[in-house]
Amino acid sequence: MKKSLKEIRKEYIKGSISISTTPANPIELLEIWLQEAIEAQVEEPTAMTLSTVSIDNFPSSRVVLLKEITKEGLVFFTNYHSQKGREIAVNPNVSINFFWPELERQVRVQAMAEKLLSEESDEYFYSRPLASQAGAIVSNQSRVIEESLNLEAQVEALLKQESPLVRPENWGGYLLVPKYCEFWHGKPSRVHDRVAFNKSNYEWQKSRLSP
Ligand SMILES: Cc1cc2nc3c(=O)[nH]c(=O)nc-3n(C[C@H](O)[C@H](O)[C@H](O)COP(=O)(O)O)c2cc1C
Repeated sequence: MKKSLKEIRKEYIKGSISISTTPANPIELLEIWLQEAIEAQVEEPTAMTLSTVSIDNFPSSRVVLLKEITKEGLVFFTNYHSQKGREIAVNPNVSINFFWPELERQVRVQAMAEKLLSEESDEYFYSRPLASQAGAIVSNQSRVIEESLNLEAQVEALLKQESPLVRPENWGGYLLVPKYCEFWHGKPSRVHDRVAFNKSNYEWQKSRLSP
């Protein structure tokens, strides 16, 4: 029988966080939680929902993969001419969300996006399997394309050519530099834990939020 959506509920029982025991720097805590998500064999632990805002103030979200955490922030790769790339070029303020249901944890981040240096994008691009490099070359990401356009054949053709593949200038990485981070841990009876980190004058301030 079809279940009513209102009947779907889950008790969160897997743990807690407290403001006093979390590190002073949220990037450190994100690294710990990510590692725990990997160890818990969460499906796609590095998948994060990235939201950007259009010139007429419409937010838009999509999943991308986190490829590195540095002291400064979070790195992902994409096509700079995609919708997200075009929106970031006008408004670099973005939001990111991780949800690891197996751990009953969510992380929210507000950040400013900066393009990586081209050498940094090269380093990652050329570390990818050749088929992924070719895929990035043939994709005019987010453009409307004809049904008959055979992208697989274009990838095959590129892989057969003798000359080395070259990273397109419009494909590369962004560093997302956080200014706000919030860690959510599900708890029984909906009294979840939330610890927020706000950056002000280069210092992180922690606060506990009501669920
Ligand atoms: C699990 C998953 C991982 C993805 N990883 C990326 C990624 O790392 N970079 C990327 O550009 N798109 C990635 N995508 C595709 C994006 O969600 C999106 O469809 C694409 O980037 C175009 O977005 P845009 O038109 O809003 O720019 C991923 C999608 C899924 C479901």
